[in-house]
Amino acid sequence: MAKIKTLFFCQNCGAQSAKWIGRCPSCGEWNTYVEEVIEKADTATANTAWKASTTVGSTPTKAAKPKPLGEILYEEESRLDTHDGELNRVLGGGLVPGSLVLIGGEPGIGKSTLMLQIAMHLGRLKVLYVSGEESEQQIKMRAERLGQQHAGLYILTETSTQNIFRQIDQLQPNVVIIDSIQTLHSSLVESGAGSVSQVRECTQELLKYAKETGVPVLLIGHITKDGSIAGPKILEHMVDTVLQFEGDRHLTYRILRTIKNRFGSTSELGIYEMQGSGLRQVSNPSEILLSQRSETLSGIAIGGTLEGNRPLLVEVQALVTPATYGTPQRSATGFDAKRLQMLLAVLEKRSGLRLGQHDVFLNIAGGLRLDDPALDLAVCAAVVSSLNDIPLAGEICLAAEVGLSGEIRAVSRLDQRLSEAEKLGFAEMYISQFNARGLDLSRYGIRVHPSGRLDEVLSGLF
Ligand code: TYD
Ligand code: MG
Repeated sequence: MAKIKTLFFCQNCGAQSAKWIGRCPSCGEWNTYVEEVIEKADTATANTAWKASTTVGSTPTKAAKPKPLGEILYEEESRLDTHDGELNRVLGGGLVPGSLVLIGGEPGIGKSTLMLQIAMHLGRLKVLYVSGEESEQQIKMRAERLGQQHAGLYILTETSTQNIFRQIDQLQPNVVIIDSIQTLHSSLVESGAGSVSQVRECTQELLKYAKETGVPVLLIGHITKDGSIAGPKILEHMVDTVLQFEGDRHLTYRILRTIKNRFGSTSELGIYEMQGSGLRQVSNPSEILLSQRSETLSGIAIGGTLEGNRPLLVEVQALVTPATYGTPQRSATGFDAKRLQMLLAVLEKRSGLRLGQHDVFLNIAGGLRLDDPALDLAVCAAVVSSLNDIPLAGEICLAAEVGLSGEIRAVSRLDQRLSEAEKLGFAEMYISQFNARGLDLSRYGIRVHPSGRLDEVLSGLF
């Protein structure tokens, strides 16, 4: 009879324990331990090559020997072009053979749409799209909406990894897409689909398959409310690349962000727009973010920010009104609320503005969430513009950090921000005087105002 072993797993971080504990010693969360049954692997019937050796702690069959680094042969890995500029960018130049990529995102954000679209883009390759969430008909309907060629695309609606590997064995695909990892289950583990041990086991089997065959595997993973990929954090450690698909469900922009990448930079960003016929790549985001701008309104300032390696000009909107209730409200959408509080305090103390009796609302247009300190100056300008009800001239943009004593601090890669502003037809840019040093400002067709203090900037603007 199979020997049944149980362990307790933290559903938040994946830590394990032999007995139940109230508070996870690893992540500090309360009440997250759940008992999961683990059947010993040696008693299970192995029917695929990737299965038997997936047990953690099994002795390797072939012992590896240390090798001098100089003797290790290395070929520039030939990356697979996904025919999607934005995805290629976040992957660091294409899909690496044998890599395991996790695409996380909230339900309904468009993960399945993106993956199906990529599968169709891959054209001449044989792609297996495994769905545990939707029926064949539903996928077909979506594919019709996307309206592209899909000669080499195969759909499999299956959730058992053993059956999936059997099909993979027959089909021999070039790329495998799994929608989603939380729906898969392996017969090696007893607990239900989506539990920590199942997610870990299934990922391990897929990882082994990817590494042994060189076939890239794209996994879709759901995200919990607090922003982590549901189930274990260890999933993030196991895969090669973690991409996060985010955006406001009510707005059309979607951002694909690299969280981890073993084969490239993590500061990359892809931008898409959700349309009736699928996701469209947005190659020049600033133009769209600024398109709804009206020059005659107060409370708006344009900030020059960087998202990943990409310069972006965004519209910062502020609304400052006399507080109707006792405690004034401060609320920020797309910007850190604490940072807003800090900037308001600086404006009050260093520039003598009376904001204590005012409600302040801040919004970054386009549904973006930004944490670049270079937006500080634009936030201050938008607040002052709304407070005094004086609009800023339309061709002005700002890029500098504001310090606690009201000083204007330098930001990184100003040249990129300047070039972007120039490209989009801005005439003036306010920056820190420390940024201006060593930069040939005459090179840009834009008037640059280097400043040292917040007061200086405000008196220059209004
Ligand atoms: P979906 O890919 O199912 O999200 P996920 O897999 O992340 O849960 O995307 C669902 C949303 O996308 C749904 O609200 C409808 C919308 N959508 C479009 O706007 N246009 C399209 O062409 C498609 C296929 C979906
Ligand atoms: Mg889906």
